[in-house]
Amino acid sequence: MTAAVSDRSGLRVLLLGATGTIGQATAQALRRQGHAVVCLVRPRSGVGGRLDAAAAAALLPGCTVRTGDPTQQASIVRDGMAGERFDALVSCMASRTGAPLDAWAIDHGATLQALQAAQDSSVPHMVMLSALCVQKPLLAFQQAKRAAEQALIASGLRYSIVRPTAFFKSLSGQVERVRRGQPFLLMGDGRLTACKPISDRDLGDFIASCLTDPQRHDRVLPIGGPGPAITPREQGEHLFALLGRQPRFREVPVWVLDGVIGGLRLASRLRPSLADKAELAGIGRYYATESMLVLNPLTGRYDADATPSTGSDTLWDHYAALARGEAAPDRGDHAVF
Ligand SMILES: NC(=O)c1ccc[n+]([C@@H]2O[C@H](COP(=O)([O-])OP(=O)(O)OC[C@H]3O[C@@H](n4cnc5c(N)ncnc54)[C@H](OP(=O)(O)O)[C@@H]3O)[C@@H](O)[C@H]2O)c1
Repeated sequence: MTAAVSDRSGLRVLLLGATGTIGQATAQALRRQGHAVVCLVRPRSGVGGRLDAAAAAALLPGCTVRTGDPTQQASIVRDGMAGERFDALVSCMASRTGAPLDAWAIDHGATLQALQAAQDSSVPHMVMLSALCVQKPLLAFQQAKRAAEQALIASGLRYSIVRPTAFFKSLSGQVERVRRGQPFLLMGDGRLTACKPISDRDLGDFIASCLTDPQRHDRVLPIGGPGPAITPREQGEHLFALLGRQPRFREVPVWVLDGVIGGLRLASRLRPSLADKAELAGIGRYYATESMLVLNPLTGRYDADATPSTGSDTLWDHYAALARGEAAPDRGDHAVF
């Protein structure tokens, strides 16, 4: 583990969820912006608990890594804060599966424990990684996140709630199949939805800047990456062009997914273990039919122009790096997204 937090001119930040995709990017951004970062991680972290404490610390260079239970207020205070003063608590914790019980336990329960710890220890500012899709909360994990957001807003603490659009990792699942010569799968004609993809690094920078930018205090912050909104069909067209192949698409009607979900829900009455699969299929359907853009409450339509942009990394750069074998397609547990 890393030594004690060094004396720096920046702020002192406790980071939860540091071993996740955005947590790691946020840790690096906080360090780049000159802050001292303490990460509280589980003794076994990462996908499937494959990281021990030393391996987690290796992912978080320049940070102080402590072990404990980031889902419990007492451990956050005792093991994470360890009697030290902090200027902010940043939570990038999220259910790794999105399954209902886990979502309520982590996206809601653990976030509230973190909030309680911040309040008990007089930490003045909490930053929460949320998701843009909570603006239309139909799924369990969205409802759990939304409830946590509301608790944070009502807490009286300074807050920054960051609601990003789609991550690159969630839009890279078909790179390999296209490379293998298979068609790109589309729901409907591939123009049902659009998003403004944001890179891990740009999102990490945005989250870290919430600490020092007063415009991001006491705000709910929808945020996308640079450039115009992109549809799934455009993603496919770009991939084929990049690989020098003739575009080949397979269009799957939405009703097929509805049939699968209905079947799983019915079957889960006999085999309750299928309920999570039904929820995951529901998550897949949600993203196949709902755009990751700001929803105009007056028109009920998604609005690319109303969706703020940040950063400079583009999905096309990411696809090019994947095609060159320079970036690993690490999709974590969110393979359904
Ligand atoms: N994918 C997208 O396109 C997208 C877009 C917008 C918003 N989002 C939101 O972003 C979040 C996902 O971010 P991400 O991809 O960075 O997540 P991730 O890679 O799955 O990381 C999740 C983090 O939460 C921690 N965590 C999960 N369960 C835990 C538990 N039981 N106890 C302690 N810690 C736990 C993990 O710790 P361990 O390493 O110990 O497991 C890890 O640090 C989700 O809330 C999603 O809604 C996603």
